[in-house]
Amino acid sequence: MSKKVLIIYAHPEPSSLTRQLVDVSVECLSARGHEVLQSDLYAMGWKATFDEHDFPERVNLQRLSFGAESAHAYSSGRQTADVAAEQEKVLAADAVIFQFPLWWYGMPAIMKGWIDRVWAAGLAHGYKGAGNAYRYGDGAFKGKRAMLSVAVGGPAEDYSPRGINAPLEQLLFPITHGSLYFPGFDVLPTFAVYGTGGLTAAGAAAAKEAWRTRLKGLFEDAPIPFRPQNGGDYSQTNELKSHVAPGQTGLMAHIIGAEERQTQVMQVEELS
Ligand SMILES: Cc1cc2nc3c(=O)[nH]c(=O)nc-3n(C[C@H](O)[C@H](O)[C@H](O)COP(=O)(O)O)c2cc1C
Repeated sequence: MSKKVLIIYAHPEPSSLTRQLVDVSVECLSARGHEVLQSDLYAMGWKATFDEHDFPERVNLQRLSFGAESAHAYSSGRQTADVAAEQEKVLAADAVIFQFPLWWYGMPAIMKGWIDRVWAAGLAHGYKGAGNAYRYGDGAFKGKRAMLSVAVGGPAEDYSPRGINAPLEQLLFPITHGSLYFPGFDVLPTFAVYGTGGLTAAGAAAAKEAWRTRLKGLFEDAPIPFRPQNGGDYSQTNELKSHVAPGQTGLMAHIIGAEERQTQVMQVEELS
């Protein structure tokens, strides 16, 4: 069935690996009969900073409260046109793909600025004006899928379970879990191409082929099994109940089965 897919990307150079992978996305998804929407952040001259100019009709001119002004602007139709247009694209999409180079262990500032500005109060947080009731698996974007496609300069070993940089799954957790699962998306495992600095033509071709394969599973592949806030694993104070992932702390405790998966990877590595 034909779906709508929004591709948001951050790279000004058409020959970059990121842009080559964007081209693959457009070609592959269109060929599969999907409607492709795009947000080319550099070409749009996207305003990355979230500031007073985002609120042309302030409620409080004395003090800039982002939460209060965002909620007011969103609910009263007083947002800037660029932000409202991006929200419409997201709400129309069945899936959203973010494509970017890894810059200082995260997304480029222009893309972070897209999230800061587009994820308004009343939409991406404080949904339905109900505080934190709808989040982590619930929210305005429930039923939609999201995925990151990342070009990584360093080699895969640097990002292996005991690699010096730490696994990409953990480095990008604030995006997958925080920015995407929080407002309700089902988030697919991140697609990454490592060692882009020394990528040969054959390596780039293999990366594009691997990306085509991942795109084919966009609407079928299992999402990351993050624990839903309202699924029974958390207490009233939003802490994991004592019988859930006992002894585990930190990011991975919020993914069902992460501890077992990690242990399996370590055992395979020890055997090899
Ligand atoms: C500002 C900046 C920050 C970077 N930070 C990282 C990093 O944290 N980790 C890493 O492995 N590579 C890093 N790199 C290398 C990029 O990931 C690499 O240039 C990119 O994957 C190449 O893909 P592209 O052709 O799409 O630009 C950084 C590059 C720049 C320009």
